[in-house]
Amino acid sequence: MIKIAVMGHGVVGSGVVEVFYKNRESIQQKAGHEMDIAHILDLREFPETPYADKFTKNFDDILNDETVKIVVETMGGVHPAYDYVKACLQNGKSVVTSNKELVATMGAELIHIAKDKNVNFLFEASVGGGIPILRPITQCLAANEITEIDGILNGTTNYILTQMIQNAVSFEDALKTAQQLGYAERDPSADVDGHDACRKICILSALAFGKHVYPKQVYTEGISKITLADVAYLESIHHVIKLIGKTKKLEGGKHVFATVYPAVISSHCQLASVDDVYNAVMVRGDAIGDVVFYGRGAGKLPTASAVVADVIDCAKHLETRKLLCWADGDDDYVADYKTDTVGMYVRMNGNTDAIKADVNGAFSGVKFLSRADAPADEIAFVTPAMPEKAFDEKMQAVGGEIQSKIRVLDL
Ligand code: HSE
Repeated sequence: MIKIAVMGHGVVGSGVVEVFYKNRESIQQKAGHEMDIAHILDLREFPETPYADKFTKNFDDILNDETVKIVVETMGGVHPAYDYVKACLQNGKSVVTSNKELVATMGAELIHIAKDKNVNFLFEASVGGGIPILRPITQCLAANEITEIDGILNGTTNYILTQMIQNAVSFEDALKTAQQLGYAERDPSADVDGHDACRKICILSALAFGKHVYPKQVYTEGISKITLADVAYLESIHHVIKLIGKTKKLEGGKHVFATVYPAVISSHCQLASVDDVYNAVMVRGDAIGDVVFYGRGAGKLPTASAVVADVIDCAKHLETRKLLCWADGDDDYVADYKTDTVGMYVRMNGNTDAIKADVNGAFSGVKFLSRADAPADEIAFVTPAMPEKAFDEKMQAVGGEIQSKIRVLDL
């Protein structure tokens, strides 16, 4: 009998317990072992659950229980999750986590400890919720040199953008519903300001290119400045705005780009039709070309589905290690995002004739956009792709007041 402990009984942790007991028989069959949850760690009381006798407030009950071989961490945040996970790994227990902040900031160290102790540290649920993405990158696509990954990596922001654009729901109402549905982080600014997507692109970049990218190295911008005016201009040229996490290997493989920002993409792109809580990750490999993984990126049961699959994998590999690893990062590994090539959508106010003349003088091949009911002093345009630094320099010669500036990606 393999004993499991679950640390954290919030949205994901309670989902893990639910899925485990609902499908216990087939889970045991797939794992090839009898399994049970021995402890659930949480500081809160849950008298109504059928598993009330398994709850503990004391981490040592898990750490010192030698029959516990697999520990699930669904507490979120770095502390105390990091200390608990590290102690479990050092004590010879395999750990499964859904905690992207933990993996994105401390992943390299925890992977090294797991390797030293010959146990597993698995985190499929940390990216894309229920979508299988980390295993496909490390196993099914292992024959490829991966060159780029672009994804819609945050369910909450994708849900909010979809509700605002398609159903005219206010930002606040859409966020409230996302919270009620269990999609949003405890502090929803982690979603709205792009930090959650940033952590996920760090993990994807590390797995795809073999070196840790730290969240502070990733240029990150959220969705709070998106307006319906921008949406309308871009609709007129069959483009949409999505929060995109991107990582790309540069010539020679010594550096990468890693960014998170709202981006304008063509409605023909596969990511353009990914709506609501759904996430999608597009992986570009030198042998396979583009492959897209799609599914529910947040929520109790989809995320629990990925966690429990990792638990089964740990149970099947108690004596062997799954090869999931990357090296520590370094300060100059991530290249300056301003050197990446992007187009730019710009909306400005001022004397539109004068702005148009300036824009035409500064850039060649600009496309001017229109929308219904635009104010007389408003103008919007899209530039051709160029290094962002060059765009900034050229814009110095353009008068008027910039209201919006959104990068255009050719995916
Ligand atoms: N808050 C996250 C999201 C949860 O909305 O995608 C899943 O990581």
